[in-house]
Parts: sequence; structure tokens; C-alpha cells
Amino acid sequence: MSEEKKLFKVTIDNITVDVEPGTTILMAARKIGGDVVPPAMCFYSKLQGSGGKCRTCLVRVAAGSTADPRPMPKLVASCRTTVMDGMVVENITNPAVLEARKGVVEFLLLNHPLDCPVCDQAGECDLQDLSYEHGSQGTRYEFKRRTFERIDIGPYIQLHMTRCILCYRCVYTANQVAGNRDHGVLDRGDHAQIATYVEKALDSNMIGNVIDVCPVGALTDRTFRFKNRVWFTKPVDAHRNCSCCSGKVRLWMRGDDVLRVTARKDQWGEVEEWICNECRFEKKKVSDWVIEGNTKLDRHSVINAGHYTNVVKPKETFKDVMKGRDPKLLMDIHEVSQVNTVDLNVLPGPATAATFNGNPNATGTNVTDVKQGTGRNLAGTDTTNAH
Ligand code: SF4
Ligand code: SF4
Ligand code: FES
Repeated sequence: MSEEKKLFKVTIDNITVDVEPGTTILMAARKIGGDVVPPAMCFYSKLQGSGGKCRTCLVRVAAGSTADPRPMPKLVASCRTTVMDGMVVENITNPAVLEARKGVVEFLLLNHPLDCPVCDQAGECDLQDLSYEHGSQGTRYEFKRRTFERIDIGPYIQLHMTRCILCYRCVYTANQVAGNRDHGVLDRGDHAQIATYVEKALDSNMIGNVIDVCPVGALTDRTFRFKNRVWFTKPVDAHRNCSCCSGKVRLWMRGDDVLRVTARKDQWGEVEEWICNECRFEKKKVSDWVIEGNTKLDRHSVINAGHYTNVVKPKETFKDVMKGRDPKLLMDIHEVSQVNTVDLNVLPGPATAATFNGNPNATGTNVTDVKQGTGRNLAGTDTTNAH
């Protein structure tokens, strides 16, 4: 008989869950779900070594383990700290954690531009959501923010470093998914930047995935830039037979046009299956895809706005109130009165009652001045005009 694996009990915000040894606090919290899950801007469960950069996932360990129940002296990054049996963690139940997170958000935004109105990521941006849910309203930063020129790295991807939060996700993706990393983080501190050094094109067939992992609008799809706001598009799941990847994608449609193709993301905003450049950038016709149906969005997002499902139309009560009279007859004033059958623009003079009484070409007389647009009626032929 195989030996049963011992699970660790960890309590996060007073909710206890059993997890395997080696699980991080963040992944244990995701097992619970809901508000106890700390936000993560750099950690990505599908990228080895990710996490530990942004500090948005800070939590307090109130008791290290059953064997050693002392609290940890400082807040810890939950994406990098593994659980111990009997560990007690505080996230939203500890005001100090929330206050520290506010500081982290302020720090992430120190050099960030106020670009949301013109940023392609707006509406699906993790930094926007983070600032809204965990940030404070102001900043204490008074210095000039650093800015960079936009760079096209290859034919499909644009890098706008000004918006980058240096989470390293794209670097891990290029390393682990695309297989040939030609970019990385150059320099340190205030000068640190994502770069290809000699602006080398990123030409791996899987490199488009860096766009999906980027939590902000630093890496964007050049085939979609400024084409539409994401909340005006309709996400649809689709697939095709592809020799390079699973071919399972999400199409972002407007009417019958496929404006953008991305990988499908789960409730944590992480890519479910990596897709290749051909699927992402070159298959923009509906006929290229087998449509599976509307995407079910798990995350609360502005993308949900305007996509109503199971709409129940209110009952029309007008007829009941009006004792059975047809509201259309009552309300269709234009059709009944024939006002719309008269084209006022082509009438040679002002319309009168006769115009609307069965003779749409009838006009008033004595209006030469009005007809010719000369202003005052000098000939005195318009009895309604004293001048
Ligand atoms: S990256 Fe996000 S927060 Fe930054 S400008 Fe774009 S939408 Fe706004
Ligand atoms: S470009 Fe995007 S993914 Fe890459 S480090 Fe910057 S924020 Fe992270
Ligand atoms: S998500 Fe944990 S440090 Fe960034």
C-alpha cells in the first residue's frame, strides 16, 4: 500500500485549508479563493522562478508552524514563502498588511504615466485593478517621471518601457516558452529597463505570449494597437488545427471582424495554454476558426460591461393601463400625423397646415424674402413681417 501523503494545514484569514508540502502561501490562498487571495503582479504559476519582485502579495505570518508558532518578524511575499504545518497567515484581516500594500502600489506607480485613456491595456490591466482595489488616492512623488521611446521589437510587438513595472514575466516567458531569449532587464535601480540591447527583433514563433503575460500595457500587439477599446469587443472561444500549438484561443470580435487573437486566460489572469504567433497574429478571419461560443469571464472586469446574458425583458404594462388600447397607435405620432412624409428642405416656402393636411408640397405665400434668404421683407409682401 502506498504511503499516504501528509498534508499541511494552513489557516489564512481564519479559513483553514489542507495543502501539499512545498505549496506557497499564495497558492494555498488560491485554493480557498475569494478575497483572501493576495494580488500578484509578478508571480505567474506557469513560469518557473517568477515572483518575488513586486511585493504586492505581502502577507503577515502570525504563526510560523505548529512546532514553532512564533510570528515572522516582517511581512513576507506570499508567492515565494512556502507553508508549514499549522501556519497562520493574515491578509485582509490585518490592517497593517493592507496599509503596506497601499505603499507598494504607490511605489509601483512612482514612474508610471497617466496613460490609461490612451493605453491599449486599459480595461484589462492588472495595475489598474490593483490601484483601484488596493491603492491610495494620491501620490507623494514630486519628481519628473522617467520616460522611454516606444520600440518595435519585431513586426508584431511594441515595447513601451514607460509603463513597465519590471515584473520579469516576459523574460521568463521568452526563456521558458519561446526558447530563445533575446531580451532581458538591463541596468539597475532607476535605470533598469526591459530591452533587447541592440533593438534586436524577437522572432521566436512563441514570442507573442509575452504580450499575454505582461500585466500592464508595456508589451502590446501591433496588429491590434488602437484598433478598439477592449470593452467594445466581444470575446469568443475558438480553436483550429495548428501544428505549433494547441490552437485554442480567444477571439476578440467586433461584429464579424476578428480584431485580436489571444490565449485563453483563467480566473487568475494566467494563460491556460500558450499559443503560437501564427494563430495570434495571422489568423484574423472568422473562417480560420471553429467558434466554440461566448467566453465565460470569471474575473470581474469592465469587459463584462454591456454583454448581457439571460436578459429578462420587463412586461409591457401600457396596454393594461390604457384598457386594451394599442400603445403603438397612441405613440406612433410621426406615422399617424404624417409629419415625416414632408421634406421641409425642398419646400420652396414655409410649411403650413395645408402641407401636413394631405398636400406635402403646399407652402405659405408672401414669403419671398424668407425663400431667397434676403432677410427683411422690403417689398412688404409678407403680412406676418412688419418690416
Ligand atoms: S498599463 Fe495599465 S495603469 Fe498603466 S497606463 Fe496602461 S492601463 Fe493605465
Ligand atoms: S514588459 Fe511587461 S512583462 Fe516585461 S517586465 Fe515589463 S511589465 Fe513585466
Ligand atoms: S507577486 Fe509576489 S512579489 Fe510579486
